[in-house]
Amino acid sequence: MNSVSITLTQCSRTFTKGNTALHPLDLHIHAGETLVLLGPSGCGKTTTLRIISGLETPDYGGRVLFGDRDVTALPIEQRNVGMVFQNYALFPNMSVAENIAYGLKLQRLPRTEIEQRLIDVMRMVDLEGLGGRRIEALSGGQKQRVALARAIAVRPKVLLFDEPLAALDAKLRHRLRLEIGQLLRELGITAVYVTHDQDEAMALGDRVAVMQAGRIVQLGTPKEIYHQPANVFVADFIGAVNCLEVTGPGTSGRFAVHGGELDAPHLKGMSHIYCRPEDVLVVALPHAQVQGSVIQSTFLGQTQQLMVDTGGKTPLQVVVPSRQYWPAGSIIGLSLPSNMLFHPERSATVSYQEQTHG
Ligand SMILES: Nc1ncnc2c1ncn2[C@@H]1O[C@H](COP(=O)(O)OP(=O)(O)O)[C@@H](O)[C@H]1O
Ligand SMILES: [Mg+2]
Repeated sequence: MNSVSITLTQCSRTFTKGNTALHPLDLHIHAGETLVLLGPSGCGKTTTLRIISGLETPDYGGRVLFGDRDVTALPIEQRNVGMVFQNYALFPNMSVAENIAYGLKLQRLPRTEIEQRLIDVMRMVDLEGLGGRRIEALSGGQKQRVALARAIAVRPKVLLFDEPLAALDAKLRHRLRLEIGQLLRELGITAVYVTHDQDEAMALGDRVAVMQAGRIVQLGTPKEIYHQPANVFVADFIGAVNCLEVTGPGTSGRFAVHGGELDAPHLKGMSHIYCRPEDVLVVALPHAQVQGSVIQSTFLGQTQQLMVDTGGKTPLQVVVPSRQYWPAGSIIGLSLPSNMLFHPERSATVSYQEQTHG
């Protein structure tokens, strides 16, 4: 499948006066990549996706390009996109095969071609043998496979997903996420995937655009947005983060924080220091940089989450292996290695706005 790049320039969308759903957005999606739009509900993900699909028109002046071709004025039928939605949007009165073949019949493909494609896509999404089933006789996961098969059967230039797994239970969501990732790599197709789930975003995205209130606030690889978040919102949205207040200078150039001292020469001048809960190490008290008392420990199966009171306003979150036993009241020694300490303002990647506007 030959893939196409997507370029949005100055695409904004105002539905009601004075309430902008999407601020002027510039975004280039590489041919063949999977770009995830990630952010909380209402931040403009669906609006952006609909502008790409042609279901929505940007405000005057916005442009959408597929490759070099300006598609701004084209309706969805003429853009050659496949879409997969949370609610499946299948025809309930048609069989699995009829649903998948629907777009192919519209294209007036020969019968033999339609049958071959049906066999191919049903194999790709693991629906072999279910062609005759009625839609209502399928599980949620199977329905979403049908929707996926229908979207890829027409060999679209672009695949668009709007929270396709949001209605499924955790285990199925996880499995389908792996399968969709595998399929997208196989197809090599340009895909835009909308989700509010950060795990899904990191698992599927070649790059992730984090959105907040109608703007992209950071665009980067999953590792960049996780380890070098451009601002506190991103740091907090993509997983948990500790914010330690610097209470003054420590000994030999270190920072004093509640419960101890930290070594972070790269964060000189900062009033706060950030650290992910899983990067905090538990060490013997004599080796501790920070010490505190466990106020709560939550067993999570794979891990155990501790809340540690170090004397500051908010307790420190620490993730430790679940077989360690740290009951409430334990005095615990912690080490926060300097290469794991960060501050969004000192992140190695610049924010999206700086990247795109000189
Ligand atoms: N058709 C519409 N009419 C009015 N407001 C809308 C419409 N579609 C979306 N909005 C508003 O635009 C904002 C962004 O919506 P949306 O793109 O659906 O967000 P997300 O998909 O990130 O949850 C929200 O405040 C939403 O209420
Ligand atoms: Mg949405």
